[in-house]
Amino acid sequence: MSLKEKIDLSKLPSHIAIIMDGNGRWAQQKGEERVFGHQHGVEAVRDTVEGAAELGIKYLTLYAFSTENWNRPKEEIDALMSLLVKTINAETKTLNKNDIRLQAIGDLKSLPGDCYEELQDAMQKTASNKRMTLVLALSYSSRWEILNAVKELAEEVKNGKLSPSAIDEAAFSAKLCTAGMPEPELMIRTSGEHRISNYLLWQLAYAELYFTDTLWPDFRKEDLYEAIVDYQNRERRFGKTSEQVTNEK
Ligand code: FPP
Repeated sequence: MSLKEKIDLSKLPSHIAIIMDGNGRWAQQKGEERVFGHQHGVEAVRDTVEGAAELGIKYLTLYAFSTENWNRPKEEIDALMSLLVKTINAETKTLNKNDIRLQAIGDLKSLPGDCYEELQDAMQKTASNKRMTLVLALSYSSRWEILNAVKELAEEVKNGKLSPSAIDEAAFSAKLCTAGMPEPELMIRTSGEHRISNYLLWQLAYAELYFTDTLWPDFRKEDLYEAIVDYQNRERRFGKTSEQVTNEK
């Protein structure tokens, strides 16, 4: 039985979030510059997106650039941004052919102008696609997102549009960049690091976390299948007892 055949298609996570980590180390192991790792990371992105869409995953969110990544050397930032522009431009047709919608979360206005424009263009061209939504987290950090949500709610309270007692989970979620998306049930991080690194802190509250030593440029569909099989073998309790969960089945 192949790994893919082990996946129960009736119990797929509707949203998978990934921290693509290890590009730099992958390149260094090969005696190359870090950028070489990012370039090969694009192949992993392509294969993972294809694998997720083929299975029927509805949302796939990739952490492509964090707010903290702005602190990297300028040459690496420039190379990453031009790689993003190039990749988004080159892949828009394929996204359309495969009925995949592109969205982005993060402080998009802080991106270089050409990157912002390319992204807006690709999002607009793929807006009506239905099979899967590919979400790129760009210049994203969860604390930034949460603070923005708090500021927006505070503004509404100040203007008398919202009563503090009406601030519940739904009202708060609606102010996040991910408003309208299901919460990720599975979060994958590559490269052996066991951290969440300011990624979807609110949204990952009940997610299963899966860590693999594979460095991102080596990640392929098979690795995705492995993570999903692992996820499906876990019992999701949402604070209940194992007995309660079993009796609900
Ligand atoms: C983490 O590896 C990776 C990134 C910060 C960038 C991810 C970008 C890509 C895969 C390329 C383009 C993506 C898209 C969506 C088109 P690292 O540099 O932190 O590696 P290290 O931990 O080994 O140093």
